[in-house]
Amino acid sequence: MREKRSEPAFANMRTEAVLPCHDTGSKGLKMKKRPLFLAFFLSLASAGALAMSADERVATQCATCHGDKGQSVSPLFPSLAGQNPEYMVKQLNDFKSGKRNSETMTPQVAELTQEEIAALAAWFAAQPTKQHRVGDEDLLAVGRYIYRKGNSWSGVPACADCHGADGHGTTTLPRLAGQNSRYLLTQLKEFNQRTRTNDNQAMHLVASRLTEMEAKAVADYLSQMP
Ligand code: HEC
Ligand code: HEC
Repeated sequence: MREKRSEPAFANMRTEAVLPCHDTGSKGLKMKKRPLFLAFFLSLASAGALAMSADERVATQCATCHGDKGQSVSPLFPSLAGQNPEYMVKQLNDFKSGKRNSETMTPQVAELTQEEIAALAAWFAAQPTKQHRVGDEDLLAVGRYIYRKGNSWSGVPACADCHGADGHGTTTLPRLAGQNSRYLLTQLKEFNQRTRTNDNQAMHLVASRLTEMEAKAVADYLSQMP
């Protein structure tokens, strides 16, 4: 039930979480008298940011939303623990280039180097995954059917064909097992409406054929997969 009213909380979280990262710490410096000193200070500050290890970067930035071990703090954000690193590298670069639109993630990746992106992806991939508990056994059964067999009456392909029987994906396909149901549902909606802008060809077709009930059922089913 908590999930139904979480839109405003998400909006608040975005602004709160994005702002602190851009504090350059320049308060108190006499800007007029010491422009060179300030420039030097700022270049040091940004060099420091570039050299940040994955541990530090996660702790000071990503953890705000994705959690300190890759289990997200809200069901609206994806958990990244155990996610396939190649897939994550691609998504982070797609956020960087604007190929995947996200007001929230665009500023998060702006200053990341390729080395940092690879290190962050490897860091999150190595974190332990988690299963969610789902109460409705009947809905789970529908989700399992859709996942394994699709819906041949309406032309939904089996998710397992691409995402794998265990939902762990491949190097190019995301792991879905253990992901937050709410995040999965949002992504399915976004693929359908084409607001998830990168590589949505396969998923647009899939999502456009799912009923609301099937989408919810398969998302719940995935969230409890190990
Ligand atoms: C302010 C909250 C916030 C912060 C901080 C944040 N993220 Fe995200 N992240 C999101 C949201 C929201 C999405 C989903 C974006 C969408 O689809 O619109 C996301 C998506 C992602 C994805 C794609 C996951 C998938 O399954 O496709 C990756 C990878 C990611 N973030 C990595 C990071 C990394 C690395 C950091 C730190 C450098 C970070 N994020 C910081 C909120 C955040
Ligand atoms: C024809 C292959 C194919 C089939 C079938 C397929 N998918 Fe996908 N799916 C993809 C690809 C490719 C991506 C990654 C897109 C990208 O790289 O941005 C993806 C991404 C996703 C994502 C985004 C995950 C994330 O972490 O952001 C979700 C959710 C998803 N699929 C759910 C499903 C469900 C549910 C089904 C079955 C109803 C399904 N997919 C069937 C190919 C497929």
